[in-house]
Amino acid sequence: MTKTSSFTAPKGIPDYVPPASAEFVAVRDALVRAARLAGYGHIELPVFEETALFARGVGESTDVVSKEMWTFADRNGQSFTLRPEGTAGVMRAVIQHSLDRGQLPVKLYYAGPFFRYERPQAGRYRQLQQVGVEAIGVDDPALDAEVIAIADAGFRALGLNGFRLEITSLGDDTCRPQYRELLQEFLLGLPLDEETQRRARINPLRVLDDKRPEVRELTADAPLMLDHLSGSAKAHFDQVLGYLDALGVPYVINPRMVRGLDYYTKTTFEFVHDGLGAQSGIGGGGRYDGLMAELGGQPLSGIGFGLGVDRTVLALQAEGKSAADPARVDVFGVPLGDAAKARLVTVAAQLRAAGIRVDLAYGGRGVKGAMKAADRSGAKFALVLGDRDLADGEIGLKDLATGEQRQIPIDRAVSAVSDALAADR
Ligand code: HAM
Repeated sequence: MTKTSSFTAPKGIPDYVPPASAEFVAVRDALVRAARLAGYGHIELPVFEETALFARGVGESTDVVSKEMWTFADRNGQSFTLRPEGTAGVMRAVIQHSLDRGQLPVKLYYAGPFFRYERPQAGRYRQLQQVGVEAIGVDDPALDAEVIAIADAGFRALGLNGFRLEITSLGDDTCRPQYRELLQEFLLGLPLDEETQRRARINPLRVLDDKRPEVRELTADAPLMLDHLSGSAKAHFDQVLGYLDALGVPYVINPRMVRGLDYYTKTTFEFVHDGLGAQSGIGGGGRYDGLMAELGGQPLSGIGFGLGVDRTVLALQAEGKSAADPARVDVFGVPLGDAAKARLVTVAAQLRAAGIRVDLAYGGRGVKGAMKAADRSGAKFALVLGDRDLADGEIGLKDLATGEQRQIPIDRAVSAVSDALAADR
């Protein structure tokens, strides 16, 4: 093997390193918290599955399946794929573990990496992080509204407000096939280029999402699904909107919305942030009432979302906001001698056992270096211990904001530091 002088992460795959990683964790945790508040249980899934699961679940004609999958053969030649999204895997696990035979809806959340071989650019990575929820087995418009409201609440808990919720209905089994035909007929009557005509034949809805002005103009009067919903799909959609109104979740109806995954039915939505440029989708989801049956399970309905953690971090930045606690620790220990250091190590352990975040100056860098490290850590207080203090049974508690220092009994350090931190809040 040739020796390389340095390695870098694969192209388009981000690392999350301190201090920026604190922002990532804060965003992910806030979105997860919103799901947990609504009773969703954690599901942890493999990062790769049989390729056929995604081909069947997400749809062969989607870009995700046809162009963006990380697919490999294992040592036996079986084809596996790094998960490009979470919903198909959740369905597979729900069926495999018979969760659908228990109480419904099955409410699950997940957080983790997904893989799409896209052209990397700002806000578009080949490994992306999502927080997702899936609610399976009950087709109740109130549940659609709950799922959407969780995402809205998660974003707002972070302080985000420069986003909008776009929503539509993609219809159901009774109205979508007819609408598809109607749209196809309309599109094939237009002077579209060959490639677009081909798309109109395979997946006519996608043509409505074409961003080119000339195609936009040609399709301006195209029939829209929302105008051709069946009575029950229309009633369902109206009820979802009614619940969103009652919950005070603002939305705009976007009847031309097209999602990149094939499984959607009825309620479909996207959260769009204007501060992100081209990659403006910070989350999306919808109903997928045929997916479970498609994957060999019972014909149960489902609804969920995937929120992009990376893009939410960028959206916060674009709004000049931060969700992370800038402090790495509450207290920083500064030993002024070897005996002091030995003692401070145990004091730190006691403080940690009491739930106080503590770091120490290691490596004998001298007082100046240690105080600098204390400042950098973001700690509120330094615990300064000299060998002479040790003889007196005392330790210095220094407020790093004001510079004030007072002596406290070393064997009461835990309660004194707790009180000082509480008083500071
Ligand atoms: P999706 O819209 O494909 O939906 O992805 C959800 C979110 O993941 C997007 O809104 C975006 O924020 C983020 N995302 C997607 N691709 C990238 C990328 N290359 N780089 C950075 N962020 C990205 C789904 O994946 C569905 N499974 C959501 C769902 C769950 N629908 C129902 N249940």
